[in-house]
Amino acid sequence: MQIVVLGASGHGQVVADILFQMWTKGREMEIVGFLDDDPALRGTRVMGLHVLGPLAALAETPHDCVALGVGDNATRARLFAELCKAREHFVTAIHPTAVLAPDVIVGAGAVLAAGSVANPGAHIGENAILNTCSSIDHHCVLGAHAHMAPGAHLAGNVTVGEGALVGVGSCATPGVSIGAWSVVGAGAAVVSDVPERTTVGGVPARPLA
Ligand SMILES: CC(C)(COP(=O)(O)OP(=O)(O)OC[C@H]1O[C@@H](n2cnc3c(N)ncnc32)[C@H](O)[C@@H]1OP(=O)(O)O)[C@@H](O)C(=O)NCCC(=O)NCCS
Repeated sequence: MQIVVLGASGHGQVVADILFQMWTKGREMEIVGFLDDDPALRGTRVMGLHVLGPLAALAETPHDCVALGVGDNATRARLFAELCKAREHFVTAIHPTAVLAPDVIVGAGAVLAAGSVANPGAHIGENAILNTCSSIDHHCVLGAHAHMAPGAHLAGNVTVGEGALVGVGSCATPGVSIGAWSVVGAGAAVVSDVPERTTVGGVPARPLA
């Protein structure tokens, strides 16, 4: 299986590393290289892999499936929709040290980084990210394109809406709901529902002006 990683910056490199770790554990794959729109990266090597061209070069780049290495949720959601329309296939990147209960549902193109944990009954939406050492406990729902940043933790039965960012080192108490496209600031403790498209921060988390 030939995989192209779309995006060669920080998150793209994390995704490429997860794929590499999967390969070292015996998963058959070849990482063809990166595509990235930054002209400064064109023709360079990142992590020993070639940056083959801009994203528009995907059609001419031999591949079976793609991995989205873009951290920004809105951009990643837009690219995901475009790639679905183009009938591309998405690899689901799960680091060998991620821990998933057997019944966890993982959507297409989701990324589960090193040390991440998803407990029984959890649902990880398509194109969502469970980043380094983050966790979602039993029966949590992580919406499509949402991002659990490094070290963020959800107690049981928490719902995270589509495209929401749960910031680095933040947490949420059992059963709360974080609205679509909202942002939970770094280090926040969410103890009550967060409406859609709202940025909250602090302990307890309150809307930031
Ligand atoms: C909350 C956040 C989105 C705000 O970013 P921003 O809109 O650029 O806001 P600013 O940095 O201009 O700060 C605005 C105000 O909010 C405060 N603030 C910023 N981040 C905060 C946080 N995490 N908790 C509490 N207050 C915060 C600032 O101190 C500032 O207060 P002031 O007006 O009294 O000076 C951002 O700070 C944050 O925490 N992002 C999380 C990023 C992350 O985890 N990414 C994951 C990458 S893998």
